[in-house]
Amino acid sequence: MAEDLSAVELPRVTLDETQPWDVIVIGAGAAGLMAAAEAAQRGRRTLLLEKNRRPGVKILISGGTRCNLTQATDKRGIVQAYREQGSFLHSALALLGPADLVKIVEDEGVPTKREETGKIFPVSDRAVDVLAAFVNRFRRSGATMSTEQTVERVDCDGEQFVVVTNGKSLRTTSVLITSGGKSYPGCGTTGDGYAWAEGLGHRIIPTRPALVPITTNEPWVLKLSGLTLPDIVLRIAGEPDRVREAGGEANLGKKMKKKSPWLDERRGSLLFTHFGLSGPVVLDISRTVTGHSQPTSLDVVCDFVPDIRAEDLDAGIREQCLAAGKKQVGGVLQKWIPHRLAEELFQRAGVSTEQRAAELSKASRAQLVRWIKEARIRVTGTRGFAKAEVTAGGVDLAEVDSRTMQSKLVPGLFFAGEVLDLDGPIGGYNFQAAFSTGMLAGQHV
Ligand code: FDA
Repeated sequence: MAEDLSAVELPRVTLDETQPWDVIVIGAGAAGLMAAAEAAQRGRRTLLLEKNRRPGVKILISGGTRCNLTQATDKRGIVQAYREQGSFLHSALALLGPADLVKIVEDEGVPTKREETGKIFPVSDRAVDVLAAFVNRFRRSGATMSTEQTVERVDCDGEQFVVVTNGKSLRTTSVLITSGGKSYPGCGTTGDGYAWAEGLGHRIIPTRPALVPITTNEPWVLKLSGLTLPDIVLRIAGEPDRVREAGGEANLGKKMKKKSPWLDERRGSLLFTHFGLSGPVVLDISRTVTGHSQPTSLDVVCDFVPDIRAEDLDAGIREQCLAAGKKQVGGVLQKWIPHRLAEELFQRAGVSTEQRAAELSKASRAQLVRWIKEARIRVTGTRGFAKAEVTAGGVDLAEVDSRTMQSKLVPGLFFAGEVLDLDGPIGGYNFQAAFSTGMLAGQHV
């Protein structure tokens, strides 16, 4: 049965082009819905423009249509997850932290639950309930929303902004750009905001897909399509760009030398698919792949048993082989990894699953251990913006005041959400950043 979306529909409005607005917010996603409601509550005459027929399309499809609203952590946990971008979020998170966001949704009559991974979802498992909570809040605020309005241009004549849509030319004192990134372009997010920001003098950090599945054409990986491994460690091996640019490790200064043999390392759940690798751990590590100048020179390295040291695994396999004696060796790995994976790794290690367990040589055992602890998979790329959950890159944070979200270059111009150079890990971090920066912008716009 199709989902009933009447709770998130808004009546059509006729826009009067003669009356200037105090605030025009462009893009009714997480950041825009929050910001417009805040601005209107402060008495600002606020218009929210949205390209789609209804607001919050990404909220509706998020978390497998369950909406992972945020993460069960505090402000510090979110800041840390954003690494080098984290300090930009201090003021926004001080205003609206994860617990505050949960309270807003619950106060609208949508109870939430925390899952084992710390992800917070609505108890109903229905993203539409989360969206309805924000739409209800928006309705009460007194702001106006006009949907099916594609903004084409944002100009500034020094005193006012002119926002040109498909058919309308609207004047406003302040503009807030919350048009998102360019991932999942079918949702309306086609990166339009970058051009407006650039046109108004802002620098755009080059965009690239993040939280995106990784592709490979290694047949053994593709054969495992459908298999999920709940807890593995994934690493990225390859030459860092700075080494490549310097013409080799020897040419680097001491400080620039590699501290770890890996470009990145993450732990979590992996899913084998018909195109390669997906699942939370893969999505999280993918920004290292898309951020590299030559992704196809990289390997994904899997440790399928991260809690067991290589030498202990070797001893364990030896023990299992001795116990299995004349039986076929094919069954000795079942204690550690699923049968389907074991079969492929035996083949990779050059060991016939039919040979007698007791006859497994030391060298073959070492090969097996290597494939279980350090299986290398050559990357061919990613699924691109079409399948990326977020966009890395965007409006340069250095040119935006993190205490207000106002442009440091153009007074009256504000930004919030994914259009900024902000991308967090999987787990509700991205909505948290969008809602928090949206609220902060809404309080200052
Ligand atoms: P968002 O993209 O939500 O909104 C931008 C709005 O601007 C869109 O409605 C768009 O139509 C509109 N717009 C764009 N150009 C326009 C124009 N020219 N004129 C008018 N309007 C325009 N995050 C998370 O924390 N938990 C999760 O569970 C998930 N799950 C998830 C699943 C999938 C499949 C995707 C693609 C993404 C997620 N995310 C997520 C990421 C999350 O959706 C994302 O971080 C936020 O939606 C960003 O919010 P914004 O408000 O910044 O942009």
